[in-house]
Parts: sequence; C-alpha cells; structure tokens
Amino acid sequence: MWGQKGWFKPSCVPITIILLLIVLVVILPLLDAAEKHHRSAAHDYLRNKCLQNCSISLVETIPDGMSYRNGSTPYRSTHDVWMEMIELANSTIEIASFYWTLRDTDVKREHNILKWPGSERGEDIFNSLLAAGTTRGLKIKIVQSEPTKTMPDLDTEVFRRKNAAEVRNLNMARLVGSGILHTKMWLVDRKMVYVGSANLDWRALSHVKELGVLIKNCSCLAQDMAKIFDVYWLLATPDAKIPEVWPEELDTNINKDIPISIYINGTKGLTYLASSPPPICPPGRTTDIDAILESIEKADKFVYVAVMDYMPLMIYTPKPRFWPVIDDALRAAAIDRHVEVRLLISWTNHSRPEENLFLNSLQILTNAFRGVKITVKRFVVPSTAAQAKIPYARLNHNKYMVTDNTAYIGTSNWSGDYFNTTGGIGFVVHGNTSLRSQLEEIFLRDWNSDFSYPIPK
Ligand SMILES: *[C@@H]1O[C@H](CO)[C@@H](O)[C@H](O)[C@H]1NC(C)=O
Ligand SMILES: *[C@@H]1O[C@H](CO)[C@@H](O)[C@H](O)[C@H]1NC(C)=O
Ligand SMILES: *[C@@H]1O[C@H](CO)[C@@H](O)[C@H](O)[C@H]1NC(C)=O
Ligand SMILES: *[C@@H]1O[C@H](CO)[C@@H](O)[C@H](O)[C@H]1NC(C)=O
Ligand SMILES: *[C@@H]1O[C@H](CO)[C@@H](O)[C@H](O)[C@H]1NC(C)=O
Ligand SMILES: *[C@@H]1O[C@H](CO)[C@@H](O)[C@H](O)[C@H]1NC(C)=O
Ligand SMILES: *[C@@H]1O[C@H](CO)[C@@H](O)[C@H](O)[C@H]1NC(C)=O
Ligand SMILES: *[C@@H]1O[C@H](CO)[C@@H](O)[C@H](O)[C@H]1NC(C)=O
Ligand SMILES: *[C@@H]1O[C@H](CO)[C@@H](O)[C@H](O)[C@H]1NC(C)=O
Repeated sequence: MWGQKGWFKPSCVPITIILLLIVLVVILPLLDAAEKHHRSAAHDYLRNKCLQNCSISLVETIPDGMSYRNGSTPYRSTHDVWMEMIELANSTIEIASFYWTLRDTDVKREHNILKWPGSERGEDIFNSLLAAGTTRGLKIKIVQSEPTKTMPDLDTEVFRRKNAAEVRNLNMARLVGSGILHTKMWLVDRKMVYVGSANLDWRALSHVKELGVLIKNCSCLAQDMAKIFDVYWLLATPDAKIPEVWPEELDTNINKDIPISIYINGTKGLTYLASSPPPICPPGRTTDIDAILESIEKADKFVYVAVMDYMPLMIYTPKPRFWPVIDDALRAAAIDRHVEVRLLISWTNHSRPEENLFLNSLQILTNAFRGVKITVKRFVVPSTAAQAKIPYARLNHNKYMVTDNTAYIGTSNWSGDYFNTTGGIGFVVHGNTSLRSQLEEIFLRDWNSDFSYPIPK
C-alpha cells in the first residue's frame, strides 16, 4: 500500500502531525489576520467619517423629591436642555412626539386642582415654544401621533390656532395596521438633537424619571436624524401611504454595517441611528430591534438594561403572542458567552404582574448553569401622598442599555409591539466612549440605590 512506502512511514506520523499543527497554529491565523486587515481597510474606506468633535451630553429628569443617598446627579435636566435648545434656535425647531400635555390642563379639570406642583416647568417650555413660533418668527414643525379621545391635541391646537407651528398627525394604525408614533425627538436648526424617553408632558420634566441625550456640534448625526423626521413628516398627511420606492434623499448610508466614526468629547466612537417600525425605514436604515440585538451580540463582559417595561410578548395584538426576540439574545449572551446580564425594570402600581414571571424565568438561569449570571431588580420612584395623586407619574420611564463596549439610548419599552408597529428611535454608540462610561455610572447609581428592589420569586 502507498502508506508503507514513500514519506508516509509510521515513524513520520508524529512529525507530520507536528508540522500540520504548526501550519494550523501559526500560519492560518496569519492568513486570517491578513484577510481581516484587508477587510477592515475596505471597511475604513467605506466607513463614514464625521470630521467633527461632537459634544454629547446625557440629560435626565430626576423626579422631584427623589434624592440619592450619595448626593445629586451631575447631569443637566430635561427642562433646562429643552429651554436651551429653544433659546439657541436660529431658524427651525422640529419635534417628533407621541402626545402633548405640557400644560396641566389635562388633569386640572378632572381633579379640580388649581395648580399641580411641577407643572410650571411644562408651561415654561410651552410658552417659550409659542414665543419662538410667533414673536421670534422661527419655523416650527411638529409631528405627533394621531390624537385620540383620551389623548386630545389641546396643546398643539393652540400652536395651530396661533399660527405658531405647522402640526401634522401621523396615523400609524392606518399606515401599518396598528401602533402609534412613540418617538420623542427634537431637532433645532437641523444641528442640535435631543432624543430620549421624555414625552412632551409636564410630568416628564418633574415627576417621571427620564433619560436622553443632547447632541451638539455633530452635523453628521443631526442630518441623519433629519431624515427620520422627514420620513414622519412625509407620512403624516391624511392620505399618506408608505411609498413603494422612498424618495432617495430619505435613504441613509449610516447604519449598523457602516456606522459613522466620530469623536465624542474627544473619545472615539462608532455611531448610527435606528428606527422603527420596519415598514417606515427607507433603504439603509437599521431597524431599532436590529440595533438592540447587535448591541447585545457585541457585548463581551456585561449587558445592563434599564427600561420601563420588559415583556417577551406582543401585548397589543388581539391575543397576546410570544415574542422571544430580545429574550433569546439575552439568554444566548449569558449562556453561550458568559456575559453578565442585569435588568433594571420599572415597578409601579400599574405594572403587569405577569412581567415578574418572565423576569424570574431569566434570573433563575443564574443557578442552573455555571458561569451564567442574570440579575433583575425593579425600580420604584418614591412618592409623597400628594405626589401619588398625580396620574401617570412617579415612575422610571427611561429606556437604555449599556454594555462593556456600547451605549444604546432608545424611546421604546422592550416588548414586541414597540419594534413591530410603533414609531421609535434608537441611538447607538459603539466603543469605550465617555458617553458609555457615564451611562454605566448612571446604571450603577440606580442599581445600587435605595430605589431598586429584588423581584419577588
Ligand atoms: C466642534 O467641532 C469642531 C471640529 O471638530 C471642533 O474644532 C470644536 O472644538 C467643536 N466645538 C465644541 C463646542 O465641541
Ligand atoms: C444660532 O446662532 C448663534 C449665534 O451665531 C450661535 O451661537 C448658536 O449656536 C446658533 N444655534 C444653533 C442651534 O446652531
Ligand atoms: C408585525 O407587523 C406587521 C404589520 O406591519 C404584521 O403584519 C405582522 O403580523 C406583525 N408581526 C407580529 C409577530 O405580530
Ligand atoms: C476634541 O475635543 C477634546 C476636548 O475638547 C480634545 O481633547 C480633542 O483633541 C479633540 N479631538 C479632535 C479630533 O478634534
Ligand atoms: C401605590 O399603591 C399603594 C398602596 O395602595 C399606595 O400607598 C401608593 O400611594 C400608590 N402609589 C402611587 C404612586 O400611586
Ligand atoms: C410602555 O410605555 C408607555 C409609556 O411610554 C406606557 O404607557 C405603557 O404602559 C408601557 N408598558 C407597556 C407594557 O406597554
Ligand atoms: C473604558 O474607559 C474607561 C475610562 O477611560 C476605563 O476606565 C475603562 O477601563 C475602559 N474600559 C474598557 C473595557 O476598556
Ligand atoms: C461632553 O462635554 C459636555 C460639555 O463640556 C459635558 O457637559 C458632557 O458631560 C460631556 N459628555 C460626555 C459624554 O463626556
Ligand atoms: C454609594 O456610592 C458607593 C461608591 O461610589 C457605592 O458603592 C454605593 O453602593 C452607593 N450607595 C448607594 C446607596 O447608592
């Protein structure tokens, strides 16, 4: 046989194996590295560069009367940032929103209380915007979710009547079958951006815990955000349809495959904006759910999630339907890659009791497999008796995630409906930026605070 002659002698077997191993261990990785280098060079060529030193700051609302044992938080308040944005505007203010209750008219009549504490901050914003659209002559464009009986457009009706703004309603249900526009985004002069959890609601400035970002000096991101606004604007007319072919200027070349590289306060990051629901994403736009999945998949050490609600369900469908998309990604991260997962979920008197069942089903894996660590806590915003009377307030409404290499700030609860039929925006920054470090600090501040509780078993 051929094995008994030539080079293949039994005595040669060990040396052959050794040679093969050398090839495998030394040469293949070199080839692989060369290919990776080649690919990353090509990627750099494709990559969008933003030749600006962007200034990005976290913005919070810490509910009145809620103070951390370790002292107050250093971040600017939503109220102050919105006031600054209005003041700095030179030509346009564009706002994409769910509903408007900046004045306390919504609760004044119902509860027969003359003045709700904290409502002056909403009125401030309302009056400054009104002045901007009238006496200051700025162009204001507002797109809001289609008003309903329970959510009437009392505020924006004033803007319309006084000719202070052009207001359009976006009817998501008509466009995609169900859902709402749930986005909260401000764009000033197409240069300055706020995106985050805060609704155009006086409570979002005083009684609801919120988190967002102010993006300044970053025209690349602002211009791309403008495309998301323009999509809403286009779709917010009474007979609008989702176009079969989108106008080319709404396409984007900034997405999860080709993020823009930016400096955030001097630290390097890769960023893009994601949008939902998928039917309103023109070519090139990453969907919000894909942004979340990608961020979880990229994590090496930990994934910390802080959202108001977490449910692996479609809850607004005629019958609840199982929707394990994010749940699967978190389980895979914990089990396959030993990434530590922490979930900080809001708890109010109105929280759905079944939410704890799903959360427990994640946490229970901690003891079931070695190296798996998933911990859940629920965050309770404290209230005085008087504050507890304020409807739809005193809760943790923020929606973000921070990993060892990514900051994600969104506008959606983590349940299926939000990603399939609800209008929302996700802002992703990969890299160990100062934004990421600050977001991690915020998460740990809340996680270790007196307001976080283990979930009942
Ligand atoms: C804005 O970006 C430019 C270009 O990178 C930079 O020179 C400037 O310092 C930045 N301004 C602020 C306020 O960050
Ligand atoms: C508006 O103009 C002022 C003065 O030139 C400038 O300081 C400000 O940054 C401008 N606002 C925006 C949003 O760019
Ligand atoms: C997602 O929304 C589409 C409409 O855009 C609908 O046809 C589909 O059934 C929804 N998916 C789920 C899982 O509910
Ligand atoms: C960005 O600004 C920071 C501080 O403001 C500075 O340290 C850094 O060198 C700047 N980077 C670029 C690329 O302009
Ligand atoms: C929640 O319910 C408890 C018990 O009924 C009550 O004492 C508390 O004031 C309520 N909190 C809020 C914010 O409504
Ligand atoms: C999600 O958030 C909205 C407000 O942003 C809230 O009204 C709603 O009850 C939340 N929860 C779910 C499960 O939808
Ligand atoms: C991220 O940056 C911070 C501050 O520069 C540093 O302390 C930390 O070790 C870095 N983390 C990683 C994973 O590189
Ligand atoms: C960026 O710089 C601004 C202005 O100095 C500061 O308020 C903000 O906290 C910084 N943000 C980050 C993420 O470092
Ligand atoms: C206070 O801060 C320390 C260190 O920064 C932290 O270890 C501790 O958990 C914090 N305590 C509370 C109650 O926030």
